[in-house]
Amino acid sequence: MQISIQGLHKKYPNGNHALNDVNIEIKEGMFGLLGPNGAGKSSLIRILVSLMKPSSGRIMVNGIDAAKDRAYVRSMLGYLPQDFSFFSNLKTYEFLDYAAQLAGMSSRKKRNQAVDQLLEDVGLFDVRSRKASKLSGGMKRRLGIAQALINDPKIIIVDEPTTGLDPEERIRFRNLLARLGSQDVSIILSTHIVADISSMCEHMALLNKGQIAFSGPPEELIRQAKGHVWSIYATEKEYIEVNQKYEVVATVMMKDGWKITVVADEVIGYAAEAVQPNLEHAYVYFVEHTLKQIKV
Ligand SMILES: Nc1ncnc2c1ncn2[C@@H]1O[C@H](COP(=O)(O)OP(=O)(O)OP(=O)(O)O)[C@@H](O)[C@H]1O
Ligand SMILES: [Mg+2]
Repeated sequence: MQISIQGLHKKYPNGNHALNDVNIEIKEGMFGLLGPNGAGKSSLIRILVSLMKPSSGRIMVNGIDAAKDRAYVRSMLGYLPQDFSFFSNLKTYEFLDYAAQLAGMSSRKKRNQAVDQLLEDVGLFDVRSRKASKLSGGMKRRLGIAQALINDPKIIIVDEPTTGLDPEERIRFRNLLARLGSQDVSIILSTHIVADISSMCEHMALLNKGQIAFSGPPEELIRQAKGHVWSIYATEKEYIEVNQKYEVVATVMMKDGWKITVVADEVIGYAAEAVQPNLEHAYVYFVEHTLKQIKV
């Protein structure tokens, strides 16, 4: 599996330049698309699943231009949209059965087997007769991934699947996705939650204001932020000043003042020491410091 995103631009009719020269190479395994609200993640994903056309640029899947052979890409695709919702009256298993029919499974027997297996896989077998609209948020998300998996996709694209889930349900969802990753399957996961990336993805891209600020393994992002994260030891008096001057990522109260962790190229005028960045620090560093001038 090889997905190559080349020189992608998206300008909406109202002038929003949502994607600005996006280039990414995606192979097998779990790929994380990280970015703050409004970065352009859903725009990129809508183009990837061919629900929307780019203004320019192209997407190649295994060497085939996705715009020229949409059926080829569609046949390999499983997609969980950010705003996934259900037909309100269907029971959980009926909903999956309906999705299976849409995916072209005509044999009732095969459908029943596939639906039961999926319900088992995502941990919804016990609630299969409950109305889909009455499931909890986390269960709905798992039903969402189940419908995306129905045709055994080689490319699985999930848009912010962990937002709004409690920690347990989020871990459960991550484990579910991790199980799906295999030799010939690519999973693309968009998120603004840094921990989703650090716990799951070998490769990632950081999207910010429509531009790719970084792409590579998460460890490389951390490496590049080295020397840009500092702990400042501030007195009560300096506290407000430091908060105004710097991008603060953590604050700890100490006996005689504050230890404030900031992201900055240098710190002058305060007692400070460089600290080893984690992925969250690196994320803030890249979002705040690496933006090219946006050409409209
Ligand atoms: N249909 C549209 N028409 C005009 N502008 C749009 C449209 N959809 C999105 N945008 C704009 O494009 C930019 C990127 O939006 P997008 O939804 O792709 O971001 P996102 O990274 O998915 O954000 P979030 O994390 O909030 O879901 C934003 O400025 C948004 O307002
Ligand atoms: Mg989005």
